[in-house]
Amino acid sequence: MSAFLFLGFSVILHAFLSLIHQCISKKTPSYASHRISHGPPSHPIIGCLLSFYRNRSRLLDWYTDLLSQSPTQTIVIHRLGACRTVVTANPDNVEHVLKKNFHNYPKGVPFTCILGDFLGCGIFNVDGPLWSTQRKLASHEFSTHSLRDFVVRTLEAEVENRLLPLLQDYADTDRTLDLQDLLRRFAFDTVCQVSLGTDPDCLDLSRPLPPLVTAFENASRICAMRGTSPVYLVWKMKRVLNIGSENKLAEAVNLVHDDILDIIRSRKKKLLQENDDQQIKYDGDLLSRFLAAGHSEEMVRDMAISFVMAGRDTTSAAMTWLFWLLAQNSNAEEAIVSEVDSILDRSYNKCLDFKALKEMRFLKACLCESMRLYPPVAWDSKHAAVDDVLPDGTLVKKGDRVTYFPYGMGRMKELWGEDRLEFKPDRWLVEPGMDGGAEGKLRAVSPYKYPVFQAGPRVCLGKEMAFIQMKYVVASILQRFEIRPVLENRPVFVPLLTAHMAGGLKVVVKKRKVLGSC
Ligand code: HEM
Ligand SMILES: *[C@@H]1O[C@H](CO)[C@@H](O)[C@H](O)[C@H]1NC(C)=O
Ligand SMILES: *[C@@H]1O[C@H](CO)[C@@H](O)[C@H](O)[C@H]1NC(C)=O
Repeated sequence: MSAFLFLGFSVILHAFLSLIHQCISKKTPSYASHRISHGPPSHPIIGCLLSFYRNRSRLLDWYTDLLSQSPTQTIVIHRLGACRTVVTANPDNVEHVLKKNFHNYPKGVPFTCILGDFLGCGIFNVDGPLWSTQRKLASHEFSTHSLRDFVVRTLEAEVENRLLPLLQDYADTDRTLDLQDLLRRFAFDTVCQVSLGTDPDCLDLSRPLPPLVTAFENASRICAMRGTSPVYLVWKMKRVLNIGSENKLAEAVNLVHDDILDIIRSRKKKLLQENDDQQIKYDGDLLSRFLAAGHSEEMVRDMAISFVMAGRDTTSAAMTWLFWLLAQNSNAEEAIVSEVDSILDRSYNKCLDFKALKEMRFLKACLCESMRLYPPVAWDSKHAAVDDVLPDGTLVKKGDRVTYFPYGMGRMKELWGEDRLEFKPDRWLVEPGMDGGAEGKLRAVSPYKYPVFQAGPRVCLGKEMAFIQMKYVVASILQRFEIRPVLENRPVFVPLLTAHMAGGLKVVVKKRKVLGSC
């Protein structure tokens, strides 16, 4: 019954949209003059709903085009059913929002509303004191000391015992493989070990994925779709009626919540037993750290979910795009392999330890370059607490959404020059020259020009951990294997909460001819 109601509503909405579409197409010239600031053509009342609707499958490139036409790389978007939105690719504006006037730009209710059902009070979804407490507590987990531990305790085992043997198997049998899927499974394993102290073993391909993993996927996908729906009323109605995607979301969220509460309870029991029921002690992962700090089970659950969410498919997306880009840029790939070989040659125990990873500058340049073009978080929004003016003069009203846009920024001529669309890792090095990669120093680039990890007080907590993990994985793989994408055409970049490659990256794996030794 409710499904029919919804269907009816959708049909009416579509009819309504195409009706205004027809009316307005006839009168476009007179309406076009209603443009106030830089942005898409806007009409009274409905704003740019029509162009938004027509461009909904290519929003990233639509915004990027509009931004490069604006003299200060900033546009204002009015649209019926959503709040006024300022989208910026201007580093001064970005610095203002993320740092200089940080307190005026919390995530805000419209954002927390979209993710609230899933993320609750987790660090990703709160502002103010609730955020800063979690930030302080969790930041210990990302100290140099903990990161060293992470390499030895988690990465080594996961890569050497699972990832590499699996790739070897594919190399031996010449079968194709979805590299993105593999890297996601890998990332899920590692982030669960760091955040929950459990090991879902997603790289065991003989078993179906654990329900926790699919539920996570479903929940984040559906939440992301809420954020891109042209009219918010649609998902809010579906939620009230508990139908369609909203019903699926509720199911997935319940499963995640129950599973994680189970993990928390059994962890708690075990940690208490180990300590004669006296108190819970930190045990090398975030979950025990949160429990030891005395937070309630629900609070710990929300905290843990945010971390799994953050570390789940960001690194895998970045690595997938890098492998694809390297397949088109074989000299960069060779430079990575020779950098890794020469660092291992010089190193004391010939292994990828913390120190060796730190030295991989050319590989880091390649990762940065890949994320410049394909940022795992393509855009991110704040909501203004009070009226404000951005450094370029753009007016911001209380409640407006302000979006900084790493994807568009990576493609602005003003920021990266004429060759902005090319993969050129050298632009990250002080003294370019691929062969000199290992020797070359990394250039200091403002995080406000390159906010791929955000910047300011809320900069990604996992940034260092992400680089360590990505370097370890890419270096280990390239040292032993050649990765050849099966299809030649350019893959499609899909920006959900985190971006990914549509349809995955199908590859064949070959043993690399000259073997490094470890
Ligand atoms: C290439 C990989 C990664 C990229 C590009 C990335 C990017 C980002 C971005 C853009 C944000 C801000 C998002 C927002 O505020 O809405 C963020 C926040 C965060 N990231 Fe990452 N991230 C990556 C990997 C990781 C990993 C591996 C972890 C650790 C498990 C992690 C943990 C976090 C946390 C906890 C926050 C919230 C920080 C706060 O709100 O104070 N990230 N990240
Ligand atoms: C996208 O938006 C622009 C206005 O910015 C409009 O001219 C165009 O027709 C829209 N649709 C497509 C498919 O590009
Ligand atoms: C996830 O979504 C798929 C497809 O919509 C569905 O078949 C599956 O049952 C869902 N799983 C969970 C745990 O939500």
